[in-house]
Amino acid sequence: MTDTLTPILTKFWDAPESWTLATYERNDGYRALRKALDMAPADVLGAVKDSSIRGRGGAGFPTGLKWSFMSPPDGGPRYLVVNADESEPGTCKDIPLMMANPHALIEGAIISSYAIGCEHAFIYLRGEVVHVYRRLLRAVEEARAAGYLGDDVGGKGVKVNITVHAGAGAYICGEETALLDSLEGRRGQPRLKPPFPGAAGLYARPTSVNNVESIASVPGIILRGPDWFKGMGTEKSTGFGIFSLSGHVTHPGQFEAPLGITMRELIELAGGMRQGHRLKFWTPGGSSTPIFTEEHLDVPLDFDSVAAAGSMLGTRALQVFDETVSVVRAVSRWTDFYAHESCGKCTPCREGTWWLRQIMNRIENGKGTQDDIDKLVDICDNILGRSFCALGDAATSPITSAVKYFREEFEAGMHTPAHELFPPGRSVLF
Ligand code: NAI
Ligand code: SF4
Repeated sequence: MTDTLTPILTKFWDAPESWTLATYERNDGYRALRKALDMAPADVLGAVKDSSIRGRGGAGFPTGLKWSFMSPPDGGPRYLVVNADESEPGTCKDIPLMMANPHALIEGAIISSYAIGCEHAFIYLRGEVVHVYRRLLRAVEEARAAGYLGDDVGGKGVKVNITVHAGAGAYICGEETALLDSLEGRRGQPRLKPPFPGAAGLYARPTSVNNVESIASVPGIILRGPDWFKGMGTEKSTGFGIFSLSGHVTHPGQFEAPLGITMRELIELAGGMRQGHRLKFWTPGGSSTPIFTEEHLDVPLDFDSVAAAGSMLGTRALQVFDETVSVVRAVSRWTDFYAHESCGKCTPCREGTWWLRQIMNRIENGKGTQDDIDKLVDICDNILGRSFCALGDAATSPITSAVKYFREEFEAGMHTPAHELFPPGRSVLF
């Protein structure tokens, strides 16, 4: 357990022009790259593996292991694809990271490419964030002009180029294989796994798809060593992460801290709940993860502890809701989102999310029927584990967990609209 913040990736976010190469270099920027280029690629990979860093995109798969699972080199191209398609409701860490400190991602991408033998890396960015696209393009240009990118990186004869690609704005394109389809110019829909991208990814070549924050953490691991990284966090969830607190806290924002910090500590760091209000429910990792309540405030926010308590650490998108919020209305908005973003490839998710939306809307409007709650849970049971990708499962998490903790609010939806029970004016969120 810890009660201190560890500003590493966020260290100079507030500095003037924090996004420029000059600021980054003043703060040890590109020193890790120079160190990495003096190491063998296998040793760089070994250091990342030794750090035990787990993917920061939500699933928590060990990054070094993912790299080592890539098919062995055969003389053909191998790719690194950075998943910058941050779209999970409540998740807002990668976009500010890329805005404030884009060179951490670029340096991380160059080192990671070197480690896995990739000469051309891609950053796949969510389409709507044009300001981030411009910032990344500018940063890539700066890095190229300084000799950190190109055909002779750091004068060591190493070739690494980066293409920044803006998608068209579909949540499903954050799913790694849908992202690869989209990057190849096709409609983004998930592919069957296996083969995993490490065996056949972009253009059917070995590919590692990694989250922005995972890759941006690599320079620190190389510069300061895996033991430094392992010295933070817990035994099985090493290192630090950006926790995004939004909603009814006094000072919402990004809090970079070792994994294992608790929500109680984070709410305190955010100045507490907004004055005069108390916590009702919260999400540990965005809307795709089962909600938590006050009873979970002391659960260490690491992958295993959150899973043992019945949810997922996910993207550490900690959305905080106080007693003025209707859980039915909040869940109904998320259900609208999943139904809208379902790519339509598989029946349980395509049809199921449509039905979930109809029932949630009925309950929200006080027009629910006697068997609607059972029907909701039954539809969720039929989506969970039967969908082609994680989006279907995700759509069920907020519903089943909300019914578990707040069944009486769903029952009230048989006669009273949520807006009467929880007048919208009292809540700044829903
Ligand atoms: P997953 O657990 O199926 O895979 C995680 C990663 O490990 C993937 O890159 C996969 O290729 C790799 N992997 C898993 N098993 C492997 C094996 N046997 N061999 C080689 N590689 C293997 O999870 P998935 O579906 O990729 O991601 C779901 C997560 O994404 C959710 O937990 C959610 O938290 C998160 N998410 C994040 C969003 C965001 O905006 N950042 C949006 C939506 C979901
Ligand atoms: Fe598409 Fe939903 Fe099926 Fe995923 S679960 S493939 S998003 S329809």
